[in-house]
Amino acid sequence: MTISTQLAGGSSGPGFLRPLLATALEALEKGTVERDGPLPAGGPGAVRSLFSGEVLPAEGQGAETALAGVAQGFTTGAADPADPGCVAHLHTPPLAVAVAADLVAGVLNSSLDSWDQAPSGTQIESEVVRALSSLVGYDPDVASGAVTSGGTESNLTGLLLAREHAVARAFGAQAVASGIPPEAHGRLRVLCSATSHFSVARSAGVLGLGEDCIVHVPVDDQQRMDANALRVVLSDLSDRGDIPIAVIATAGTTDLGTVDALSDIADIAAEHEVWMHVDAAYGGGALFSERLGPLLDGIGRADSVAIDLHKLGWQPVAAGVLLARRAAAFDPMERRVAYLNTEDDEVAGFQSLLGRSLRTTRRPDALKIAVTFRALGRRGLGELVDQCHEQALHAAAVFRDSPDFELYQDPVLTTVIFRYRPESRDSDQVNAELRRTLLTEGRAVVGRTELDGSVWLKLTLLNPHTTPVEISALIDDVRAAGERESR
Ligand SMILES: Cc1ncc(COP(=O)(O)O)c(C=O)c1O
Repeated sequence: MTISTQLAGGSSGPGFLRPLLATALEALEKGTVERDGPLPAGGPGAVRSLFSGEVLPAEGQGAETALAGVAQGFTTGAADPADPGCVAHLHTPPLAVAVAADLVAGVLNSSLDSWDQAPSGTQIESEVVRALSSLVGYDPDVASGAVTSGGTESNLTGLLLAREHAVARAFGAQAVASGIPPEAHGRLRVLCSATSHFSVARSAGVLGLGEDCIVHVPVDDQQRMDANALRVVLSDLSDRGDIPIAVIATAGTTDLGTVDALSDIADIAAEHEVWMHVDAAYGGGALFSERLGPLLDGIGRADSVAIDLHKLGWQPVAAGVLLARRAAAFDPMERRVAYLNTEDDEVAGFQSLLGRSLRTTRRPDALKIAVTFRALGRRGLGELVDQCHEQALHAAAVFRDSPDFELYQDPVLTTVIFRYRPESRDSDQVNAELRRTLLTEGRAVVGRTELDGSVWLKLTLLNPHTTPVEISALIDDVRAAGERESR
């Protein structure tokens, strides 16, 4: 039998994996040398040519050949977030220790939809949820949660919990299953600021609330949800007979890293008895840092919180987490499924996580998180956050001191928004083109966004090991591309 058909698990699995891992690591090394930068030069055409063979040939090539070839092509053609020039998105370079732990999860293929597929996975996820509950300020004996595929799933699930809570309060518990009575007046509404992540509106759509159920609360001059305006919007909705099901605050907006005033929002949500969800997908990791953590004061008063550890947490995708202050909030999601979680098993102490997620089969992504937490501790993770924040401050200082650049505002977390100032041509065009030139040349992956109707560029600094010299070199590359595009 060839190694191609051997399994990764069991007592022989590690022996079969070892030579394959050596091949995979060699492919990573060779592909990285071949790429020679943060992404491949030549754009989509060049990447297409890396995969010329048939994907599903009639006869297989064998494990070694296939792995060496495809993995090397994949590496050559990838954008590597560990490269100091790959700074467009919340696309974190994962820690080696987390990737090694993830391999173990892959080998055992534990699935969290039943205890008998994931005894240790179930336990580890529960421990990770407890640790993160304490981090946000919840009582870990009362709170609950689950590891998710990311902020999108966490926001969807948080909004689902909020909707079920609001519907039960307004129309009685039976309405959660049978729907809102047809004679009911008013509309279910979700409140957030215009800077909230697009997944909030999509979640509202997915939940059948209609994306236009979203009410945008105005922001203040720092782009934070205006707490006074929130109070006014909530009163207006109640006068109209609409039912606000949730206020979604953001702790770390995708572009600016802005953190809403969580304590003030919590006060108003409590006054109006409205569910508060905090999308801390990006900013949640700041809680590891003594320096930045206070920005999120009040997060523990939210009913639910989304945190992504594949952003400020240095985990390989996926490592989202949804937490709820009270475990009872998950009651509407509980399902009793004969083949997965019979009641007598649970009574006998075999815990089921089925009701914590909208998914059924679910990877034990908590394993890599638990290994990372134990390896670095809160302080170690906080230092990584602080290092990335320092880099953002350094980049901002360079932009502020350079007449050929404009800084949008001081960084809050680890993003920096700026633009090149061309002397002659249109700024939007030059900035858009210089970014694409850097991308096509394989020199840098810089973010592009739009603010106040204009094109701005973005550095999302997530590699804690990047040095100030490397950041200055990246900015020099941007400047040189800007000069070329201005001619
Ligand atoms: C603030 C915020 N919320 C939610 C998300 C969605 O997270 P994911 O891509 O992990 O689903 C993002 C992604 O960047 C984000 O920045």
